[in-house]
Amino acid sequence: MSIADKSVISVEQFDRDALERIFACADECVPVARGEKSSGALAGKILANLFFEPSTRTRLSFGAAFRRLGGSVETTVGMQFSSMVKGETLEDTVRVISGYADAIVLRHPELGSAARAAAAATVPVVNGGDGPGEHPTQALLDVYTIRRELGRVDEVCIALVGDLRYGRTVHSLARLLTCFRDVRILLVSPPALAMPEKVIAYLDQRGVAWEKVGSLVEATRMADVLYVTRIQAERFDDPSDATRLMGTYIVDRAMIESAERSDITILHPLPRYGDLAPDVDSLPGAAYFRQAHNGVPIRMALFCDIFDCEP
Ligand code: CP
Repeated sequence: MSIADKSVISVEQFDRDALERIFACADECVPVARGEKSSGALAGKILANLFFEPSTRTRLSFGAAFRRLGGSVETTVGMQFSSMVKGETLEDTVRVISGYADAIVLRHPELGSAARAAAAATVPVVNGGDGPGEHPTQALLDVYTIRRELGRVDEVCIALVGDLRYGRTVHSLARLLTCFRDVRILLVSPPALAMPEKVIAYLDQRGVAWEKVGSLVEATRMADVLYVTRIQAERFDDPSDATRLMGTYIVDRAMIESAERSDITILHPLPRYGDLAPDVDSLPGAAYFRQAHNGVPIRMALFCDIFDCEP
């Protein structure tokens, strides 16, 4: 396999063995990610971080991961500062950047953009979010966080809450959870923001139990993990539809207490926006900031996998 064939476009590329290998490597990366140990594993290598949509966590944690492994990072943020604003194609852009960098991370508003970039590039491309499509490295860190918080992923019951239609993180997470045994997925969303049929068909094909649950309190009673998402207002044709749907499901302390589940593990890919109240933050199971921090070791482990090195 050539290095360019190591692009990461979809979670469907991973099986259980690959996940166990990446998670074990991520555990080894934790002290390096925290700056307690140093690594020169990627010394001399350059990452091109191409972000054509807003990002805080993904962009900075990919950059931190590459630097913690001894590499360096070049970043482009926003179409307006790229020659794509002059009409250059994504394909030409990544062909050129393949001569400047050893790997590319791409966030782009169009569905399928990461696959197009990977087909044109001669270095590995990692999908940092392709419009409403996938966000595979978020799913890797989500599952890694479940493993660290609960000590297992097998037999987990997880409620996916909020915008399941446009939320790419839940598309990737639901797919990735099919690598584990006896997982149960509860889908909690307004009907207009239901999980796409394509993802449901994948769950059915892989024999994963799922059900739609209308009541957030009921889902909270049933689940081991609540995975809360924001309404993706930027993907709506009519922003007033997003405003109308915001507030349909709000995870706050009163809701969790009414479900008598103050111990539940709560995840969120962040940013939150009215869907997850700050009064939840002090609960022991509020793991979303730990989850965001896990983005560094998991992305370090992915780079170790791509470049076939140890941290
Ligand atoms: N979770 C996530 O993708 O966050 P950013 O949009 O800030 O990268």
